[in-house]
Amino acid sequence: MRFDIITIFPDFFTGIFGHGVVKRALVKGLIQIETHDLRSFTHDRHRTVDDRPFGGGEGMVLKPEPLVEAVESLEVTPKPERNPQRESVILLSAQGAKFTQATARELAESDRIILICGRYEGVDERVNDLICDRELSIGDYVLSGGELAASIVIDATMRLLPGVLGNEDSSAFESFGPGDDHFAETEGPPRSTHGSGGILDYPHYTRPAEFRGLAVPEVLAGGDHATIRRWRRERALEKTFKNRPDLLENADLSREDRTFLADLMRAKS
Ligand code: 6GU
Repeated sequence: MRFDIITIFPDFFTGIFGHGVVKRALVKGLIQIETHDLRSFTHDRHRTVDDRPFGGGEGMVLKPEPLVEAVESLEVTPKPERNPQRESVILLSAQGAKFTQATARELAESDRIILICGRYEGVDERVNDLICDRELSIGDYVLSGGELAASIVIDATMRLLPGVLGNEDSSAFESFGPGDDHFAETEGPPRSTHGSGGILDYPHYTRPAEFRGLAVPEVLAGGDHATIRRWRRERALEKTFKNRPDLLENADLSREDRTFLADLMRAKS
């Protein structure tokens, strides 16, 4: 899979992809990431990428010509004929649709993604109209630019590609993962990550068994798989209730889960 990033800060990305899973995917040739300096698509002496907004107001707006020329230089299929499931041009801005794990799963099906990093107060809207397939935001806060967002979209997407994570199951069973039918998994050792079903992951522990007076929960040291599985599920439900109650609305919950949550809520009130 190939990622192209159009940015006024190409140096921002030297280093950020040089670690861990992303680095390994690059070395293995599973992904390719190219950055493109927006200023090299300007034609004036000052390499101007922005200008004042029509209608007045604060700040500067990224001009359309360099952005459109930059995308055209990448030999992406022109918009009317483009299949955005295979090849998509994405504008990163605080005005975009929210990027979620579902978006990452969708993007992981494509061959090529071009990411345009927004800057300043905005991007001339004709860039959106002429060359972009979608506009994405990574959350409800304002960043100074789309560079961090582009890095996040690439990280979350590429780790879903076949061969990128060592264990092909690793991404299926984590928080926000598609999970599987977790009710069906009642035999054998519990999965290492079993948050799934649209709730947060359960808490993890490793050695030492006691650290600064805090012991690892006893149940985890015993070999009772069913008990461990239920303990993890309940801790995951507790954490979700505490930190992300909004997720419980659409979570895949068993009757046992619902009873446990009802008890939790009763205990709290
Ligand atoms: Cl993609 N860009 C900016 N500037 N701010 C954001 C964002 C993107 N996502 C959330 N906030």
